Amino acid sequence: MKNSAPVNHPVNEPIRDRWSPRAYAKTPVEAIKVLSVIEAGRWAASAFNEQPWRFIVGLNFDETHQKILQSLVEWNQQWASNAPVLILNIAKRTFSLNGNKNVTFKYDLGQSVANMAVEAVNQGLHAHQMSGFDPEKAANLFGIPDDFQAVSVTALGYYGNPDTLPPDMQKAEQRIRERKALNEIAFSETFGNGISL
Ligand SMILES: Cc1cc2nc3c(=O)[nH]c(=O)nc-3n(C[C@H](O)[C@H](O)[C@H](O)COP(=O)(O)O)c2cc1C
Repeated sequence: MKNSAPVNHPVNEPIRDRWSPRAYAKTPVEAIKVLSVIEAGRWAASAFNEQPWRFIVGLNFDETHQKILQSLVEWNQQWASNAPVLILNIAKRTFSLNGNKNVTFKYDLGQSVANMAVEAVNQGLHAHQMSGFDPEKAANLFGIPDDFQAVSVTALGYYGNPDTLPPDMQKAEQRIRERKALNEIAFSETFGNGISL
């Protein structure tokens, strides 16, 4: 299903058509498509090209998928259990070169995951990111080293039947997508002074 952003200025199609659905079909996702999605994440920019992102991929309801699902809060489990692919998004806290703290480690991971969400659309898939999970539980389940932090989970798959969702989620699924106005987020001269181009 399309739920394109009602953009005020033209943008490329996958950005316009990316959205975060909760109705997923149990249809397996082809490994070749998952690889393209991860490839898109791999080519994100990062500070000093550290590439602090790491991904644990649960594919088509395998054991890894079940473990990632366990780490989600119950509310997310309700819908994400249908998504055939669950990806645990992890970031390295320090620079590999000198061990110094990398202050943009989550920022860099976010860029990588954003790339993946856009590539998912290009592959005919949908992606839905979640911070509603237990990072400590995930760290224990997967033996994540201390220098790495599990930051979010991405659900990935084909669109399903929204009628199968609980009523509150069905409503959210149909909601018109909204964003702040451009002049609320882009300024000129001083902070808060909305840009006019
Ligand atoms: C970091 C992050 C955490 C999120 N956490 C959750 C979550 O735990 N559960 C959920 O259903 N949606 C979650 N979302 C999805 C957002 O609610 C969604 O992206 C936002 O409402 C905008 O909608 P759109 O992605 O369809 O444009 C999260 C998104 C991001 C980027």
